Amino acid sequence: KKAKMVVDKEYKIAEVDDRIYGSFIEHLGRAVYGGIYEPGHPEADEQGFRKDVLDLVKQLNVPIVRYPGGNMVSAYNWEDGVGPKEDRPKRLELAWRTIETNQVGTNEFADWAKKAGTEVMMAINLGTRGIDAARNIIEYTNHPGGSYWSDLRKKHGYEQPHNIKTWCLGNEMDGPWQVGQKTPYEYGRLAKEAAKAMRLVDPSIELVTCGSSNSSMPTFPEWEAETLDHTYEEADYISLHQYFGNYDNDSQNYLANGLELERFIETVTSICDYIKAKKRSKKTMMLSFDEWNVWYHSKDSDSKLEPWTVAPPQLEDVYNFEDALLVGSILITFLKHADRVKMACMAQLVNVIAPIMTDNMGASWKQTIFYPYMHTSVFGRGVSLHPVVSSPKFDTKDFTDVEYLDTAVVYNEESEEVTIFALNRHISEELKLDINVSSFEDYQLKEHIVLENENLKAVNTVFKEDVKPHNKGKSQLKDGFVEAVLTKASWNVIRLK
Ligand code: AHR
Repeated sequence: KKAKMVVDKEYKIAEVDDRIYGSFIEHLGRAVYGGIYEPGHPEADEQGFRKDVLDLVKQLNVPIVRYPGGNMVSAYNWEDGVGPKEDRPKRLELAWRTIETNQVGTNEFADWAKKAGTEVMMAINLGTRGIDAARNIIEYTNHPGGSYWSDLRKKHGYEQPHNIKTWCLGNEMDGPWQVGQKTPYEYGRLAKEAAKAMRLVDPSIELVTCGSSNSSMPTFPEWEAETLDHTYEEADYISLHQYFGNYDNDSQNYLANGLELERFIETVTSICDYIKAKKRSKKTMMLSFDEWNVWYHSKDSDSKLEPWTVAPPQLEDVYNFEDALLVGSILITFLKHADRVKMACMAQLVNVIAPIMTDNMGASWKQTIFYPYMHTSVFGRGVSLHPVVSSPKFDTKDFTDVEYLDTAVVYNEESEEVTIFALNRHISEELKLDINVSSFEDYQLKEHIVLENENLKAVNTVFKEDVKPHNKGKSQLKDGFVEAVLTKASWNVIRLK
């Protein structure tokens, strides 16, 4: 099979917002306890944070991490997690039915984020709580001092405010599984008023209003239209969440899910623009895809876990090679929509549906999905270009006219580098690709990284890394054209400089 594309430095979509390479740490399973935090571990620092895990997070160059949930935030009292550790209560954590020890809370997480070189995206509880708790937490984290909550922060040892800039107004409030689920009217009103109060405390913050929990929710997209009617002027972003799974073991169909994602992004964008028109607003609402990943491998074993234990192994999907390909496709899709998707969080970061794992013997390791995430986060910063693609296509159970070539291109004007991310979705045949790059005069081919494997179901474990990239991809640059071979079912990163 053969495909071709034209990449021109003038075909700009938008500057990539680095925050599309964000991630997520929820108080869930072993993400916090036994993941980022494990006092007593040989790699633990003076605060109990694992340095081996921090090193892996740094390799991913994660710009922002959502915290503390997720479903967990909808019944969370943030006050439980601040102050002397010995006084913090143990609570029944209702979302995941575990015991929350509160040994890590807002201040510790802000410290961890600093160590990881990342920012915090903080979610507030709009399930069991509301405006009052919202205005208090932001006074605690962001107000310099001289008031009850900011002085309490100082008393807790944090003289300087954390200045958390990005705040999520609740989590998945449309979901029946959510503690304190809301109707669109209830949510819209509450989110708007909470947002107003928070901005009165700190006008410099950015706010994310809750969109639907996924594109199959029965109330999607009416939820977006009705809630945005209330929150449009208060919020800067609307959230999108989506998880994928190869439930039918139909890999060709599974690898086409980028189309579903694209449809979701484009529908939400249209609704935002409809409300913008309706309100005669000058503001354009941006998208925060603040939960996305593959999530299905662990669902059976999770249903067998005993409730009310501390940090059980929940949502510990072991990812295979085809999952890594889909993750690459998801990141490509965000790059193609860089004009509207300004933040995105791989859910999650450590142990819980995560690229980074720790085991109970104290080791840490990289899942298959670590690699496409790292490649895009490290090389995908700059301007997203619009490649003009001509590719053979296929049909599957759920999708028609799917291009075998899935691609996005990022041009870093400062470092004068061009990176072509390309997925060959064909699971049994290679794809020859001709890329016209003649607008990039005097550029050389720097490297062609490939993630490939004979076995779509190959996994990594703590003992063995079967799925890892090499840079021996077959490409050459001649007379303004890159001629590349994309092996069957492969993730490719072609770098020019
Ligand atoms: O990331 C796991 C869970 O998925 C989150 O807690 C929730 O927001 C979503 O349903």
